Amino acid sequence: MPDQNRWIIGHRGAPSLAPENTLGGFRKAAETGASWVELDVTLLADNTMVVNHDPTTDRCSNTQAVLAELIRDQLKGIDNSALYPDWPYEPLPLLSEVFRLLNELNLSLNLELKDHGLPAERVVSVLKLLLETEFNDNERLIISSFSRELLDECHRQIPEARLGLLCESLPEDWQEYARHTNIYSIHSRWSDLSYNDARQVKEKGYKLLCWTANQPELVESLWMWGMDAIITDNPQDYLK
Ligand code: G3P
Ligand code: MG
Repeated sequence: MPDQNRWIIGHRGAPSLAPENTLGGFRKAAETGASWVELDVTLLADNTMVVNHDPTTDRCSNTQAVLAELIRDQLKGIDNSALYPDWPYEPLPLLSEVFRLLNELNLSLNLELKDHGLPAERVVSVLKLLLETEFNDNERLIISSFSRELLDECHRQIPEARLGLLCESLPEDWQEYARHTNIYSIHSRWSDLSYNDARQVKEKGYKLLCWTANQPELVESLWMWGMDAIITDNPQDYLK
């Protein structure tokens, strides 16, 4: 039985089993027993919010396009299962579709706002509206970003949301920033985090998450360091 105090978060779904950031991928993550998934979002030219890691469709799909230059109708025909030859067609999903699926599966969400150079005010106002209509449950949500501009804007527009500061190594001014923006959690790259950093974050009362840890021995030692959650490509190895 998984420990309820230790969250396993499927990174972009369950990418060792299914195409990343897709509806099929999130279903697969739920099948592994994961109660959390992480995903990445960005905006199209017409302010449609979509789930995709990169600013372009090139890496994961059968097309080459810049998402910020597309409108919603132009998503038709994009197959995001290109890296998984045995997988059937997977559309590049709208965030609204994913919200509905996560509600159906009762999955919690670490939503990563990607900084693809769009105005923070515009990105966050679209997200705010979508959350109000499709995913109005702050207990099941953490919004994270590497971009302080995006986090600041979330703090301004969606003050009730739990915010996660994404980083590689822990920035020197992290405490000052965390207080200023009412940060809930620190999401560090595991290989850039020291034991002392981990202790400090926990002692100051923040949740501590790390990404992207895939090896069982590593995951075990990160739990020993006091991690609250581990973001992994292999949720199936740690659940059920
Ligand atoms: O949110 C953790 C992790 O996803 C951050 O890096 O590049 O996989 O989005 P990336
Ligand atoms: Mg991410």
